[in-house]
Amino acid sequence: MNSGTPAGASSLALSGGGTDLRREDLHPSVSDPVMDTMNFLNEITLRYPEAISFAPGRPYDGLFDVEQIFSYVRRYLDHLAQQGESPARIREALFQYGPTAGRIRELIAGSLRADEGIDVLAESIVVTVGCQEAMFLTLRVLFSRPEDVLLVSSPSYVGITGAARLLGIEPVGVNECIEPVGVNEHEGGLSCADVEAAVAVELAAGHRPRAIYVTPDHSNPSGVTMPLRTRHELLDLAARHDLLILEDSPYRLVSQAIRLPTLKSLDRGRRVVHLGSYSKTVFPGARVGFAVADQTVVDAAGRSGFLADELAKVKSMVTVNTSPLGQAAVAGALLESAGRISDLNNETAKYYDDTLRTTLRCLDRILPPARRARLGVGWNRPSGGFFLTVKVPFRVDNAALARSAQDFGVIWTPMSYFYPQGGGERGIRLSTSYLTHDEIESGIERLAAFIASASEAS
Ligand SMILES: Cc1ncc(COP(=O)(O)O)c(C=O)c1O
Repeated sequence: MNSGTPAGASSLALSGGGTDLRREDLHPSVSDPVMDTMNFLNEITLRYPEAISFAPGRPYDGLFDVEQIFSYVRRYLDHLAQQGESPARIREALFQYGPTAGRIRELIAGSLRADEGIDVLAESIVVTVGCQEAMFLTLRVLFSRPEDVLLVSSPSYVGITGAARLLGIEPVGVNECIEPVGVNEHEGGLSCADVEAAVAVELAAGHRPRAIYVTPDHSNPSGVTMPLRTRHELLDLAARHDLLILEDSPYRLVSQAIRLPTLKSLDRGRRVVHLGSYSKTVFPGARVGFAVADQTVVDAAGRSGFLADELAKVKSMVTVNTSPLGQAAVAGALLESAGRISDLNNETAKYYDDTLRTTLRCLDRILPPARRARLGVGWNRPSGGFFLTVKVPFRVDNAALARSAQDFGVIWTPMSYFYPQGGGERGIRLSTSYLTHDEIESGIERLAAFIASASEAS
């Protein structure tokens, strides 16, 4: 079903007359199927505007207020004035290029202490253009040899596998267990025995497992949360195998579910690079994220600094600095809540918990146990976040998605998009963040009708 036409390719570009470039001559990452899958989802969404879409993993627009941006920026500027900054310096703070590692590191460090019990120096933080840039910089700096391997808990966020491939790093998936309905979510997820086995396989192949990427809380795409025991085991394993852990947890503060400690707050050996995002907790248009990279780096002459300094060097050649305006807005939000982004998100978290619970309730009602068993369908029950996984008894691919959109008016994301080495062919990701109750209700009706039809045909 994928037309193979690049998104945005115009008839002008295809009509000849200009320079033709061969796709094979471009970097292989642009031919990565992941890049086309996201285009395909967009294409389907545009082609069936009436369909109810459980696809976008974006915050709900109704929670934003335009005036908020002005008051956040104002709050930050007032803060600078209270700190004794002159009008000229304040003007510079908004209008000029800024320090590469960011202007608001102290505020972020304070917020991490207040909200997460993560106690790090501001100098170990780099403010980035979203978490996406934090991933890219971290991978660029850490992966130096052709044999270096990135393990990723799978299914995994496409941003990390995409960034790895841009850099010529092949991600190696370690499959997590996504439990069906009725099973305590804390029983599922990543198994450290599987990570250990993957490390052994890579070492035997002459590779160097360098880091493992995980999304411990309400993962995108599966919705799974890593149990506390696994967090401790993973830290032990990382120490034993000299692995770094890349912790990415953008959904933990947009739920009122019990929060387990972050890996970074449990990290006694500086094994964890914490990748932060304000996209779900403040707003994604700010494009502000950060990396906490407090590992020491020692050069040949014995001088030492933070890994963050090395990330900042790369950043100076990628985005120069994160937009001061975006940083000012996020800083205002941090000041407004005395660093407690969790407090700032009380209402938001209630909203997302409610849409997730509504989706689960609709699934339970429309697909009760007997019907579920007959169809061979099941789903997990995340405690929070934007996503859940539905397991189905038939192959889920782009053709199935197109049929679902066209004949049943419902869109979702095939789970296979999130497995870097294949897998997930019988899984569907539902995103629950973006829909009203009524839309969820009829969306799940439509989904159940699609599943029933596809199960019978399979
Ligand atoms: C797991 C995960 N990490 C990172 C990001 C990207 O964050 P940012 O908008 O800060 O780049 C997302 C966005 O959806 C995500 O789901």
